[in-house]
Amino acid sequence: MEAKTAFQSKTIVTDLVLPSETNPINNLFGGELLARMDRAASIAARRHSRRIVVTASVNHVAFNRSVPLGSVVTIEAKVSRAFTSSMEVYMDVWIEDRESGECIKANEAIYTFVAVNETGRPTKVPELIPETELEKERFEAALRRKQLSLVLAGKMKPDDATELKALFE
Ligand SMILES: CC(C)(COP(=O)(O)OP(=O)(O)OC[C@H]1O[C@@H](n2cnc3c(N)ncnc32)[C@H](O)[C@@H]1OP(=O)(O)O)[C@@H](O)C(=O)NCCC(=O)NCCS
Repeated sequence: MEAKTAFQSKTIVTDLVLPSETNPINNLFGGELLARMDRAASIAARRHSRRIVVTASVNHVAFNRSVPLGSVVTIEAKVSRAFTSSMEVYMDVWIEDRESGECIKANEAIYTFVAVNETGRPTKVPELIPETELEKERFEAALRRKQLSLVLAGKMKPDDATELKALFE
């Protein structure tokens, strides 16, 4: 299975914020953004694996900045690391300024997807080769995040999370 770069999975989704997608103070509803990110990330994971992919976990979401009604929102998703059947997808969310066109970073999120076969069993994915400094940073940290996610899900004993434990030693 040929290794792939993060760039090969890059997925950009741009869309408007409409009134039906906002909360009572006219900002994008958090669940709507989660769903948009899930779609963008699943396309990135599919591009990397060329398999059916399912969302295994939402590892991190930071709603740092609200997204007002009428905003143009862009989600950029790329696979940050591939393991055996799972892939971490890292997303950056941008809002475009109406007058200047400048893009302001609004949010970040990290989701994990698993490639599965027709019967839903996990199946192997290609390795990921990080190229840029940021891709290398995200690649390095991905194993710690995977271990944290597995520990929190009760699927790994804290004692076995060696990469994660090393952070505190
Ligand atoms: C995700 C799913 C396929 C994992 O199945 P499983 O029986 O736990 O399989 P495994 O234990 O072999 O794990 C498969 C991979 O998922 C990873 N994984 C499972 N749970 C995880 C979690 N909470 N966080 C991070 N990775 C996770 C495992 O580490 C493993 O990765 P690897 O093969 O790269 O090492 C299964 O739980 C599933 O189908 N869940 C439902 C998915 C879904 O419907 N999503 C939409 C929700 S509405």
